Amino acid sequence: MRSAVFFLLSTLLVSARAIRSRVIYQSPTSLENIAVRDTSHLLLTSAASPTLFTLDPTTTNSTLDSVHTFPNATGLLGITEYCPGVFALVAGILNVTTRRAEPGSIAIWNVDFNAKNPVVRILAAVPDAGLGNGLTVLPGDTGILLLADSVAGAVWQINVRTGASRLAIQDPSMQFTAPTGGLGINGLHVQHDYLHFTNTDQSTFSRVALTAHDGSVTAAGVVQTLATTQTGAPDDFALDKQGRAWVTVHPGALSLLSPPRGLNHTGTWSQVTVVGNAEGTDASLNQPTSAAFGRGDVVQEHILYVITGVGQVVAVDTRRI
Ligand SMILES: *[C@@H]1O[C@H](CO)[C@@H](O)[C@H](O)[C@H]1NC(C)=O
Ligand SMILES: *[C@@H]1O[C@H](CO)[C@@H](O)[C@H](O)[C@H]1NC(C)=O
Ligand SMILES: *[C@@H]1O[C@H](CO)[C@@H](O)[C@H](O)[C@H]1NC(C)=O
Ligand SMILES: *[C@@H]1O[C@H](CO)[C@@H](O)[C@H](O)[C@H]1NC(C)=O
Repeated sequence: MRSAVFFLLSTLLVSARAIRSRVIYQSPTSLENIAVRDTSHLLLTSAASPTLFTLDPTTTNSTLDSVHTFPNATGLLGITEYCPGVFALVAGILNVTTRRAEPGSIAIWNVDFNAKNPVVRILAAVPDAGLGNGLTVLPGDTGILLLADSVAGAVWQINVRTGASRLAIQDPSMQFTAPTGGLGINGLHVQHDYLHFTNTDQSTFSRVALTAHDGSVTAAGVVQTLATTQTGAPDDFALDKQGRAWVTVHPGALSLLSPPRGLNHTGTWSQVTVVGNAEGTDASLNQPTSAAFGRGDVVQEHILYVITGVGQVVAVDTRRI
């Protein structure tokens, strides 16, 4: 009872309070995915540009600087840090209208910031991927990346040491449904042995337990659908330390999904719109695509950086939510 009252109260408080959010940068290119370095610098990809960009959000007048332009690509997608200072990202020859990649063009690249100048090398080609989208790492120094394939409705695993790729999970909950340009599984992140993922066409946020034997990742149970996003089509998301998910939802909402208390996170998660709205009429959050928490100090760790398809970088103050 107490937790139910508390939950109701916190839900009302979140709805009533204006969450402070601010557009800190307006990029000329659409933005697709974001990762944050321990220096606080944001790393930003665009599906419409083969250049990886960086932006320092701690300065007043931030500038968008290029880190590297990748060959054999027209756009970049998911990006993740898989060991300290070392990031992997998805590159490919993309048609942003049809939302499809040229067959055989998806590759995973490595950007290592531990040297004075970033060192770039190719990690793997994933020629059979339909559309590599979200990218994350299996925790625990595994050297295994997980790639969401929005067209195959699947998750690929990529070994960063050998470059070998393997279809790890393919499931109806990951498939697209739209007749043209459909997108299934989109963002994906692992926490506590569970792979959490969104499906853009199905408007779902789900999870599945993972297991790894001899370097092969498989599902250790059935996929649990945790929420159907009320405000539209979900894209990428960020998980916080409490296990809540901050989900970007097209056309214009940031939704906070919270697990029910005391039920081992199963059951339907609650939803609150914290920035924007379901109609997409809030011009300060237009087509949000990805979100990541700041790093580098305690102030940054409470800021959620949300990027959008019209090039906005939005800082959301998540304190006391
Ligand atoms: C930031 O840009 C604005 C507008 O161009 C300018 O007035 C201001 O002085 C700049 N601030 C800093 C710290 O450079
Ligand atoms: C780009 O693609 C061409 C043709 O497939 C290939 O020969 C070349 O090695 C690729 N370049 C890089 C840097 O991967
Ligand atoms: C994207 O696909 C559409 C439809 O097939 C086509 O008309 C367009 O030329 C393609 N764009 C690029 C850049 O290939
Ligand atoms: C909670 O989840 C953990 C991890 O999957 C599992 O081992 C445990 O059995 C679950 N407990 C209940 C009560 O479902």
